[in-house]
Amino acid sequence: VAQSKGKEDILRAIREAPLLSPNTSLLLQKTSEPDHDLQDVIRIVKFDSVLTARLLRIVNSAAFSTVHPITSVDRAVAYLGEKMVVGAALADSVSRLFLKPLSGYEGGRGELWRHDLFTALAAREIVRTSRSALSADLAFTGGLLHDIGKAILSDFLHDTSRVAVAGIENGELVDYLAAEQESAGLTHAEVGHELAKHWKLPASLQEVILHHHHPGQAGESVRALVYAVHLGDIVAMMAGCGTGSDTMQYHLDVGYERYFDLTPDALALVLVAVQEEFVKAEEAFALA
Ligand SMILES: [Fe+2]
Ligand SMILES: [Fe+2]
Repeated sequence: VAQSKGKEDILRAIREAPLLSPNTSLLLQKTSEPDHDLQDVIRIVKFDSVLTARLLRIVNSAAFSTVHPITSVDRAVAYLGEKMVVGAALADSVSRLFLKPLSGYEGGRGELWRHDLFTALAAREIVRTSRSALSADLAFTGGLLHDIGKAILSDFLHDTSRVAVAGIENGELVDYLAAEQESAGLTHAEVGHELAKHWKLPASLQEVILHHHHPGQAGESVRALVYAVHLGDIVAMMAGCGTGSDTMQYHLDVGYERYFDLTPDALALVLVAVQEEFVKAEEAFALA
C-alpha cells in the first residue's frame, strides 16, 4: 500500500514538472525526423528570441573564440551545429530539472547535467566512429535526456543508496534499477518515460529513455539508437561523470555488437576523444 501511494505521488510530480517551451518541443520533433535539414533548425531558432540570444552568446564565448564575431542566426547555427542548438534549447527550457541536486542518489547540484552532457557527446561519437547510418545528433539528444527521470525520482528515494549498494553486493538485487523499483515502485527509466510522454517527445526519444539500460527490449526500428545511448552512458560513468551512488551499478548489454563495430578498447578511445569536447561544451552552456 505504501508503495502504490508512493507511485501516485511520483506520477503527480511528473504531471507538475516544468514543461518544455513550445519551440523546444518543435525543435525536438523536427530534429528527430530523418530527412530534416539545418534550414529547418534555423527557421525554428529565428522565431525564438531567447534562444537566438543564447546561441549568439555561446558562439561568441571564449569556448569557441571565432576570429570575427558572429551576429547572424544562420552563421551561428551553421557554426555550432544542430547538437548545440538542441542542447541550448533543452538547457534553457528545463535547467531546473537538469541542475537539481540528486539527494536520493547522493549526487550534487549539476551532476545530472554533467552526466547527461558527457553521455550525449559519447553517444554521438559512437555513432560517428562506427559507420552507422544513425543520426549522430539524435543520439546526442537521446543522451541529454536519458536520465531525466532521476530529477523526479530522486525526491522519492530514501535510504535507497545504502540498500542498493548492499543488495547488489550480496546478489539480492541485480542492479540499481531493482533497488529503485523496490523502494519507489518505479525505476528512473520508467519515470523518465512518463515524463517523456507528458512532454509529448518523439517516439524514438521516449524509447531511448525507457530502454537505455536494456536496449535489447527496444523496438527494432530504434534499437541501434538506444544502444548508442546505452554505450554513451557507460562511457560517461567510466569517465567519472556519474550521478552519485548508482554509478557503474548497471549491466552492459553486449547486444550492441550487432549494431556497432566496437571493441571495449574502442570505448576507452571514445572516452578520450570526447573529454576535450566535454570541457568545451560544459563551458559553452555554462549551466552548472
Ligand atoms: Fe540511467
Ligand atoms: Fe545515465
